[in-house]
Amino acid sequence: MEVLEESEKEEISVEDEAVDKNTFKNCSKIAFYRRQKQQLSKKSTYQALLDSVTTGKDSTRFQITNEATKVPLLAEVFGIEGNIFRLKINEETPLKPRYEVPDVITSKPSTVRLISCSGDTGSLILADEKDLKFHITANPFKVDLVSKEEVVMSINALGQLYFEHLQIPPKQRATREKENALIDTSQKNQEDLGLWEEEFGKFVDVKVNGPASIGLDFSLHGFEHLYGIPQHAESHQLKNTGDEDAYRLYNLDVYGYEIHNKMGIYGSVPYLLAHKLGMTLGIFWLNSSETLVEINTEPAVKMGPVDAKQKNRSRTDVHWMSESGIIDVFLLTGPTPFDVFKQYASLTGTQAMPSLFSLGYHQCRWNYEDEQDVQAVDAGFDKHDIPYDAMWLDIEHTEGKRYFTWDKKRFPNPKRMQEQLRGKKRKLVVISDPHIKIDPDYSVYTTAKEQGYFVRNFEGGDFEGVCWPGLSSYLDFTNPKVREWYSGLFALSVYQGSTDILYIWNDMNEPSVFRGPEQTMQKNAIHHGNWEHRELHNIYGFYHQKATAEGLIQRSKGKERPFVLTRSFFAGSQKYGAVWTGDNKAKWSYLKISIPMLLTLSVTGISFCGADVGGFVGDPDVELLVRWYQAGAYQPFFRGHATIKSKRREPWLFGKEHTRLIREAIRERYTLLPYWYCLFYCAHVTAEPIIRPLWVEFPDELETFGVEDEYMLGSALLVHPVTEPKATVVDVFLPGSNEVWYDSKTFASWEGACTVKIPVALDTIPVFQRGGSVVPIKTTIGKSTGWMADSPYGLRVALSTKGSAVGELYLDDGHSFQYLQKQQFLHRKFCFCSGVLSNSCADERGHYTSKCVVEQIFVLGLKKQPSSVTTHSSDGKDQPVDFTYCAGTFTLSLENLSLNVGTDWEVHIK
Ligand code: NOJ
Repeated sequence: MEVLEESEKEEISVEDEAVDKNTFKNCSKIAFYRRQKQQLSKKSTYQALLDSVTTGKDSTRFQITNEATKVPLLAEVFGIEGNIFRLKINEETPLKPRYEVPDVITSKPSTVRLISCSGDTGSLILADEKDLKFHITANPFKVDLVSKEEVVMSINALGQLYFEHLQIPPKQRATREKENALIDTSQKNQEDLGLWEEEFGKFVDVKVNGPASIGLDFSLHGFEHLYGIPQHAESHQLKNTGDEDAYRLYNLDVYGYEIHNKMGIYGSVPYLLAHKLGMTLGIFWLNSSETLVEINTEPAVKMGPVDAKQKNRSRTDVHWMSESGIIDVFLLTGPTPFDVFKQYASLTGTQAMPSLFSLGYHQCRWNYEDEQDVQAVDAGFDKHDIPYDAMWLDIEHTEGKRYFTWDKKRFPNPKRMQEQLRGKKRKLVVISDPHIKIDPDYSVYTTAKEQGYFVRNFEGGDFEGVCWPGLSSYLDFTNPKVREWYSGLFALSVYQGSTDILYIWNDMNEPSVFRGPEQTMQKNAIHHGNWEHRELHNIYGFYHQKATAEGLIQRSKGKERPFVLTRSFFAGSQKYGAVWTGDNKAKWSYLKISIPMLLTLSVTGISFCGADVGGFVGDPDVELLVRWYQAGAYQPFFRGHATIKSKRREPWLFGKEHTRLIREAIRERYTLLPYWYCLFYCAHVTAEPIIRPLWVEFPDELETFGVEDEYMLGSALLVHPVTEPKATVVDVFLPGSNEVWYDSKTFASWEGACTVKIPVALDTIPVFQRGGSVVPIKTTIGKSTGWMADSPYGLRVALSTKGSAVGELYLDDGHSFQYLQKQQFLHRKFCFCSGVLSNSCADERGHYTSKCVVEQIFVLGLKKQPSSVTTHSSDGKDQPVDFTYCAGTFTLSLENLSLNVGTDWEVHIK
């Protein structure tokens, strides 16, 4: 490792992490990629030995061998409840165990028995009780996944199965001549192929286990549209990768990352979805080492009438390659997008139910200077009548970047500061990073050191690297004991200056190691269980957030929901909180790309996601800032944030008119909170993403498959943020030939399946309500969500072409687990049909009393002026109601109602 200059050991207090592109590898610099490419061009084949098949209670196993190496692999096929297949391939007898990702699959998946029937000679068919078949061909080894007699996916059809078996290091071998025939061992070639050592710039990665990479190809028949494998600053629909431009999944700290680039950034979810008319599939590649994914689509070949019956379907080939571990892949067979979401959630869990406050607006900056600054910013929101829920403190709030401490000069009395925020019904969020300053007087450091809680280096000492505090060691969150201890640090009695309104932000957890290879940890660092960092790099941040979330739950004795924002993540991180897209730039192009980036996270299970509003790096001009607030108000995690060198940009610093525009955008967020909260509940319970690409809601409409400049918020609202400067008009695509859409501001309506030109001023946020939906809102906005608990509701009813509409409302105390433990919740259903709007119970299990009333009902698309409107409550009381009807916009408005939100009632419109 590099020797640090004395001065470098000091705290790093500037934007030291700015890095140039050469810091990071492209595919050609990745040895396992070069090896796989080289080897696969030689076309050696694998064969399944069908006479080795054994069928156990949960799975069917058989051997696979490579004609060149003869090293036997063991394949294991599982049928899993909910139309999922799992295929595991490992060495039958590896020299030592290979890493299998723990803690991601929430519980042992319930298997279903697969019935084996032999196909033709040389093949085996494993069928579930429905219409799914796993058709294995022995030689060359290939699998066809058959759904309703149609081959929808083939595995290893391109012969890209690749498995480097563990070997004894060359130094320990008796004779070099007996090197495996698979690999050329000449000195030069060894270096190129990075078998036992791999160089990158000044870094040398010494590999005790040698080459151990794996790979496999999947051909998706008839599919041309793929999505997923975050995180990349790229389009929502995955692109063809061509030569040396694979999507990389390797968690890295990339300050001001470049957009339209397939390099890995902060987090990884090795899971993609493929969609075509009539079917959606998912492939979940459970591997936490560095992974590359190649995508190549062969479009359908147009054929003459003679050939028409022949197969001319398009096909997309997906090639997964990982540096180590085993092949462990889940095939999610849909067939609808929502089926695939459920299947994936049955494996990795659903989005955690957030506290209501965390759906409000968050105000962050690196850094709010001191207690007075916090107070002044807090007061600024009230003065300008802008709601917000949480104030955030970045690294400078600590004593020299020692997390769990406070800078005594700047924050002499953190409890007092929090009590002031509590008085305003607001919260505080502070940062807690995984690097721990090496300092014998810092108890977090000394305890972790004594207990052996740090990641170790190759030589066996504690790993040391530079981050914000200067030289630091890194907690080994993969160790359950470390997680337990770390969770304990959040106890109110342990975390001095903390209160129960303090929540946590986990940053730098890729992990970021300044001056490390690619700004991260050496791959040969050692974790709990003696596993190399290379095996589990992509899951480090997942464990950090898990330990933090569990700490917050424990501090409340299991009563309160945690809130933890993380920068790094993996499959399943949705269980622990929210994710944001890291260090974006204050540029229009970054505002624009935030939409596909968040849609991609959303379809891979991470619903609670957002991007820094305003852009983290640089200074947005005021038009961009306003547009960013407008977009952010409609994205799940809504936080303004800015880097240390940027100019102050609190919402009221840009003149009255712009303050008004930002206020309006934030207020729209608070108006729609009941809808957001209900969507989060649905995400939590049924795994439906909160923001959805159009193809998810309109899976049968080809035109929607590539749309990424607009999306659905739930199933009722279509949002098309303005992401161009000086826009006066935007082209909005309104999908669905049987749909009707209503402009949420002008109430103008359109039939679906068309693109409309919507004029926009700086105060326009193009949002459209889908006919057939009821959206619950709040009619009065408070200083924060806390002030709005008892404020009245309104219902926005948008009628379908048939004159009907449905919607839901979910309500609970907004912060505890009582909804789960004691069923203290209300889940209501609104139906509008034949002129009657009813409120009824959607889930009889729930019990929660609310004083809240529905005071306003607004109906869009009512073609005829009513002659009377009456309310009917369950106690038999009927009352006429005043109403206003506008024949120009076909809208009906009922005001000053007093209908309890939690009881059954009807409103009759005649
Ligand atoms: C990097 C994070 O991405 C950014 O949001 C934060 O402000 C800085 N680290 C300082 O903690």
